[in-house]
Amino acid sequence: MTPNLNIQPDIKISLKQTFGIDSEMEVDAFSKKNEYVPEIDKSYKFDRDTTMAIISGFAHNKRVLVQGYHGTGKSTHIEQIAARLNWPCIRVNLDSHVSRIDLIGKDAIVLKDGKQVTQFNEGILPWSIQNPVALVFDEYDAGRPDVMFVIQRVLEAEVTLHFLIKIKLLNKINFLDYLQHQILSGLVIRQAFIMELNK
Ligand SMILES: Nc1ncnc2c1ncn2[C@@H]1O[C@H](COP(=O)(O)OP(=O)(O)OP(=O)(O)O)[C@@H](O)[C@H]1O
Ligand SMILES: [Mg+2]
Repeated sequence: MTPNLNIQPDIKISLKQTFGIDSEMEVDAFSKKNEYVPEIDKSYKFDRDTTMAIISGFAHNKRVLVQGYHGTGKSTHIEQIAARLNWPCIRVNLDSHVSRIDLIGKDAIVLKDGKQVTQFNEGILPWSIQNPVALVFDEYDAGRPDVMFVIQRVLEAEVTLHFLIKIKLLNKINFLDYLQHQILSGLVIRQAFIMELNK
């Protein structure tokens, strides 16, 4: 993933003005767009209750489950709220091609000062925990069990930070080990990490 975004919500917007919802509530938003902010679809109609539920997710860092029939606007609803708040939004389609490695990250061998070193490239989950992004797990019911297990760790709010520290810690150990034992130790540590997650 790209480096951290280093942005914070810096404006408040009115629900009445932006979503046409009868409420005096104001929500945090960003004054500037970036590459992760979806495009606005001006014709999108916001259902009041669903909008309030999704907005509370944005406002209070809550997980929101949106359920409904095919084509009723679930995926676009979240995107269109993000678009209006200038809130970065990443959609992960949980079809069979998404793997744990895509979500968590993996070691890559890179050149640094002319030397080959292993570097842990963070996947979508650790990156999202460290950045203000709305992470949309689309087609949630289609996710593979091994992938859903990792996602579950992120959904449990109180373990999220622990999960991140664990990734970072193992990452560091991995790097130090690499200096002493080269690539093999990287493989051992990665294995240890997966076992940790399975506990
Ligand atoms: N309330 C709405 N206002 C305007 N357009 C809508 C609305 N709801 C759905 N649409 C349009 O209908 C199409 C389908 O919406 P979307 O893909 O978000 O549905 P979904 O519920 O996620 O479907 P699926 O269950 O197949 O994932 C999109 O083009 C979307 O823009
Ligand atoms: Mg959808």
